Amino acid sequence: MRRINIFDTTLRDGEQSAGVNLNFSEKLEIARQLERLNVDIIEAGFPAASKGDFASVAEIARQIKGCSVTGLARSVLTDIDAAWEALRHGAEPRLHLFIATSPIHRVHKLKQTKEEVIETAVKTVKYAAAKFPVIQWSAEDACRTELDFLAEIVEEVIKAGAKVINIPDTVGYISPQEYGQIFTYLREHVPSISKVDLSAHCHDDLGMSIANSLAAVSAGATQVEGTINGIGERAGNAALEEFAVALHIRKDFYQAETGLNLKEISRTSSLVSKLTGMAVPANKAVVGRNAFAHESGIHQDGVLKEKTTYEIISPELVGLQNNSMVLGKHSGRHAFRNRLNEIGLTVPDQDINKLFAVFKELADRKKEMTDDDLVAIILEEKLSK
Ligand code: KIV
Ligand code: ZN
Repeated sequence: MRRINIFDTTLRDGEQSAGVNLNFSEKLEIARQLERLNVDIIEAGFPAASKGDFASVAEIARQIKGCSVTGLARSVLTDIDAAWEALRHGAEPRLHLFIATSPIHRVHKLKQTKEEVIETAVKTVKYAAAKFPVIQWSAEDACRTELDFLAEIVEEVIKAGAKVINIPDTVGYISPQEYGQIFTYLREHVPSISKVDLSAHCHDDLGMSIANSLAAVSAGATQVEGTINGIGERAGNAALEEFAVALHIRKDFYQAETGLNLKEISRTSSLVSKLTGMAVPANKAVVGRNAFAHESGIHQDGVLKEKTTYEIISPELVGLQNNSMVLGKHSGRHAFRNRLNEIGLTVPDQDINKLFAVFKELADRKKEMTDDDLVAIILEEKLSK
């Protein structure tokens, strides 16, 4: 089994979600929970971005010793200096340095030639390597970059001292097959590639961030980046809980595992949702309210007989107590009877069909049947006798 490192950027890329602004103590609370979840790297913020970001990165680096803490920096010497000041007291200070490489960014944003971009990247990696033991280097908009240029700049920054090479799909544009091909191409065309970890960083604009992250793993990535609940710029980043559970459930296929403490997933998701104010959609994979809820009669009957008929993830795996049977108009007799028993209402066999008919009639008018509805049905039946 290959071990995939998890790089959590909830506090940096995640905080870039429109409308999200975490304060100092909220960031610390999330960082402590990420440590319990056992992520390998926490990207705590962007120290040069603001005084507040600097202070929280510095405090997280000071307090969190169970994993590596990093901060983002542009390829600008003053950004690197600010990051060093914030991170120097960390257990393993790590810098996340980036520069855009795609023609769109080179021409319109940086206004630099390919040669100038390489020169800036090499100069800043060398400068940072004199301070930081570990440098992660990211090619912003890597997926819209010419492959030969990407390979060239990656080789140069490895020679300059980068230890992790990150290939971000900054705008969520790539497809899984293409993303895998980029990793394969780099492994075949960058002479020094075996000296570094390769990292995947996916955005969800086309809803492919998890598929892309998994494709990168199949093509040799050893680190995957993302956020809790998939929060982040625009449509967000790859949701780490989805990635980790997908890898766990299909480790037979991927032959890889993360070191995450999966039982902390549910708690981590709730905390991030509460502190960011970003609700988790009910149908979201792994952490949505309905992720372990069964409503239809056929499914409920199957799950009551044997959970694995319709549950590929056990709720206990992610730290939940149990699944739920939602009683509604699609529910069957089996689940109806089961719930009556669970809440201590025993009904004779000869009454069950009649009571179930009343239940169905009421369920047709209501979205969800509560335990109080069941009690009312039974009481009414008793009174009418
Ligand atoms: O999406 C992106 O390109 C980023 C970089 C700063 C790594 O978040
Ligand atoms: Zn990003």
